[in-house]
Amino acid sequence: MDKMNFNLSRRAFLANTSKTGLALSLGGTAILSACSGDVKGDAQSVLATSMTQTPLAFDFSALEPHIDAMTMEIHFTKHAAGYAKNLNDAMGEEQVDSSRSLEDILGNISKFSTKMRNNGGGHYNHELFWKVMTPDAAERPDGDLAEAINSSFGSFEEFASQFETAAKTRFGSGWAWLVVGADKKLAIGSTPNQDNPLMDISDFKGTPLLGLDVWEHAYYLNYQNRRADYVSAFWNIVNWKTVAERFAAASM
Ligand SMILES: [Fe+2]
Repeated sequence: MDKMNFNLSRRAFLANTSKTGLALSLGGTAILSACSGDVKGDAQSVLATSMTQTPLAFDFSALEPHIDAMTMEIHFTKHAAGYAKNLNDAMGEEQVDSSRSLEDILGNISKFSTKMRNNGGGHYNHELFWKVMTPDAAERPDGDLAEAINSSFGSFEEFASQFETAAKTRFGSGWAWLVVGADKKLAIGSTPNQDNPLMDISDFKGTPLLGLDVWEHAYYLNYQNRRADYVSAFWNIVNWKTVAERFAAASM
């Protein structure tokens, strides 16, 4: 690129962004990077989900007594692994570009098969579930997330009560969610089966911050029919740091 064309390109770039930009010339090639774009890129990476299973950050037994080791092992190595495999099978069968993000596919899930819906959702939901749990859980959130919860629901207790109700009253199999909606406000809801709030076919929409699996495979070995006890125990293992990071990213 000659100097005149570079200057024209640079001027066009600066005219097209209202935010501070950084222009670099490296080896004759102009590399332009807007600071605002970097921040959004960071936010997207916080919220991005791998197409394959991410290794668990803790041992299968680490969440005991709230979730027992055998449930965790079967849940991760059988149920969740199955969703990941079947998602990748569906990607091949439906000739989906491998560079396409899972979030984008879920946002357009009405254009795909039931297999993609069930397994794309199943994989996304479980990847999130493992991330929002930790054996080193804080009792409750702090900072901006705590303020937003208080502002949206009145108190942490009221938020927890509404989330528990969503989890306990989801008929059959499904998930309870805390999301940031398109209006940037927090909302609580639930979805059936392996649907989730990213899906265009979902009645309840938003960017998931926290998800709780209320399929019987998530609790039946330890809690049998006592879903309410499993839901109550969940508060002992929520990774509020991860939820807060997702909140910050989804709020941009
Ligand atoms: Fe599950």
